[in-house]
Amino acid sequence: MKVLILGSGGREHAIGKKLLKDFHSMDLYFYPGNGGTDQIGKNLEKIYTPLELCLFAKKNAIDLTIVGSEVFLLEGIVDIFNNFKLKIIGPHYLAARLEGDRIFAKSFMKKYGVRTPKYKIFSCYQKAMDYLENTTYSVAIKTNGIASGKGVILVNNKNEAKKALNSILIDKKFGKSGNQVIIEELLKGNEASIISIFNGKNIIPFLSAKDYKKIGEKEIGLNTGGMGTIVPNPYMTSDVWIDFQKNILEPTLEGLFLEKLTFFGFIYFGLMITSNGIYLLEYNTRLGDPETQTLFPLMKSNLLNIIQSSIDQEYIYIYWKKLYSCCVVLSSKGYPKKYEIGKIIKGINSLKEPFYIAGAKKEKEKWITSSGRVLNLIGIGESIEKARKIAYNKVDQIYFENFYFRKDIGF
Ligand code: GLY
Repeated sequence: MKVLILGSGGREHAIGKKLLKDFHSMDLYFYPGNGGTDQIGKNLEKIYTPLELCLFAKKNAIDLTIVGSEVFLLEGIVDIFNNFKLKIIGPHYLAARLEGDRIFAKSFMKKYGVRTPKYKIFSCYQKAMDYLENTTYSVAIKTNGIASGKGVILVNNKNEAKKALNSILIDKKFGKSGNQVIIEELLKGNEASIISIFNGKNIIPFLSAKDYKKIGEKEIGLNTGGMGTIVPNPYMTSDVWIDFQKNILEPTLEGLFLEKLTFFGFIYFGLMITSNGIYLLEYNTRLGDPETQTLFPLMKSNLLNIIQSSIDQEYIYIYWKKLYSCCVVLSSKGYPKKYEIGKIIKGINSLKEPFYIAGAKKEKEKWITSSGRVLNLIGIGESIEKARKIAYNKVDQIYFENFYFRKDIGF
């Protein structure tokens, strides 16, 4: 069997490793991939447009394409593959807008009664400031497009609001992604990520995850792609699961049917658990990174069967190990702003599984950093504490100059 995996992070390395663990022999292709994926499959080296990827898949008889990164989804890659009758897992372009177009997503949530924080939309700087003058300056200001994960600014006072609105609506720092802003009520609580598989009829949730998004400990500083995760999320109690089912999942499913947005792929609910119930902050229409790296080591079921069940529109029961998983991300100095690369990494060759390469390459038998997020180190244990201890022990085995990690993952 030949599988093509699209993306270049630890998530794509984790998808590849899980498929090989389940199946042992399988030919994996990655585009663009990273130094880790290159060890378990073949990275496609030249630059491919979505159509060229499709032609590559056709010519090389690829049996299945798995889309990791949203970038491909928002280029409409699923529609192109579908036109060529090639098997691909992920939403078509119209459904991918649930992630790519925040205004579309919020309107969808409002229309179908998916519980979400209150919001207003503005394209005029002054009108947005006037609105804040009469409400509160404690809000999330979000660009209409996803802006490579950078379009969410949390503000707490007039100056911060001015700065954020100015950079989006006047200085156009986010380009077209910032043509409009959503000003959203800032909720206090605990975040949770629930990734699920959608088969066009049912949304089947995976274990819950807690993502640590900020660069600094205690959730301070800039947003990142994710600096660590624990699974399961300790705040997802059975009552919260029931609330999620009733107020988020079921109305989402109804909306997907009625808007004819059904698809075969992953849907990720970015949630806030508050004292007034669970709220949906955002949809992603893909697997999370580093949630995937934290989830897959606990997944007993065969990933390919899960994907196939989605394409076949069949319900599948997913089996999990009754353990805890903790992922610590090692990053380069400067990340999530401009970061250093080219540092020699010591210790990878003696690491025990599971671990994933996010941004490193192998040159003449040496591992070298090549991106902002470099490594995902995973601990699995009978408690969060044990899982965390194993993950941080792995951190102690790795060294590269100026490396950074959060010391509070799992606390
Ligand atoms: N970890 C957050 C994301 O994948 O978007």
